[in-house]
Amino acid sequence: MRVKKAVIPAAGYGTRMLPITKAQPKEMVPVVHKPVIQYVVEEAYYSGIGDILIITGKGKRAIEDHFDRSDLPKKDKYTEELDKILDEVNIFFVRQREQKGLGDAVKYAEAFVDDEPFALLLGDTITFPPCTKELIQVYKKYKTSVVAVEEVPLEKVSLYGIVKCREVEDSVYLIEDLVEKPSIDEAPSTLAILGRYILTPEIFECIRETKPGKGGEIQLTDAMRILNTKERMYAYLFKGKRYDIGNKLDWLKANIEMALDDAEVGEGIRELIRSIEV
Ligand code: UTP
Repeated sequence: MRVKKAVIPAAGYGTRMLPITKAQPKEMVPVVHKPVIQYVVEEAYYSGIGDILIITGKGKRAIEDHFDRSDLPKKDKYTEELDKILDEVNIFFVRQREQKGLGDAVKYAEAFVDDEPFALLLGDTITFPPCTKELIQVYKKYKTSVVAVEEVPLEKVSLYGIVKCREVEDSVYLIEDLVEKPSIDEAPSTLAILGRYILTPEIFECIRETKPGKGGEIQLTDAMRILNTKERMYAYLFKGKRYDIGNKLDWLKANIEMALDDAEVGEGIRELIRSIEV
């Protein structure tokens, strides 16, 4: 079955980005020319997705406004590009009633997904080139859930969901187990889940079976752990760039690195960096 739908959870508090996120969603934080969530929607579109569900919640209305077609008298090229995308994809919204974790947020997508495999893209994470496009290729071959991972330094494993797995072909691993935010001693590898997934609809039953985990929240990794006992799951080692805009250092890095590559501001930023003495 083709992957035609994408789900973008964007309901988390964003406490690591305070006070920037005190009165605006973290998904609306700018990276060079665009808010984060626009990159995520564009990734879904350029990966061949036609229907997108964004899961919002308290304090997130600006996200819905951003995806209205623009009625500005004059538009820039980024607004025009988004309008073109809005002509071609359907964007739906649903509100997570309480911030009870990523697993709980995904549960709200069940009716939308309707028994098809779907792409899941965290609304606060940017990938280049579009990771979802690569995951869909892996899904086409293995026809089961695939989760994108990246190598992280050992001292950072406790910030991520970590997979235990064995390689079956270049960059593709069969998952044996998953652990949410393990200590260094508990970590079965340094392959961390980065926020892009293709999931089968069986995940919803697994979420229902999942008890609240770390922080009293329903963790998606715990639900995926249950899914892994029912069907094969694969991990795909993504070799592109990934920025978690939910933390300030990654957000600043994303702005600098992406600005350096930008036709409009790249030269000015290069000049600035050359002039700074550190
Ligand atoms: P995070 O782990 O970054 O949590 O969520 P958070 O609450 O958004 O941020 P902090 O820790 O307070 O800074 C990972 C993804 O899951 C979504 C977030 O929007 C983000 O895309 N999420 C998380 C929800 O949609 N709902 C939740 O209840 C929790």
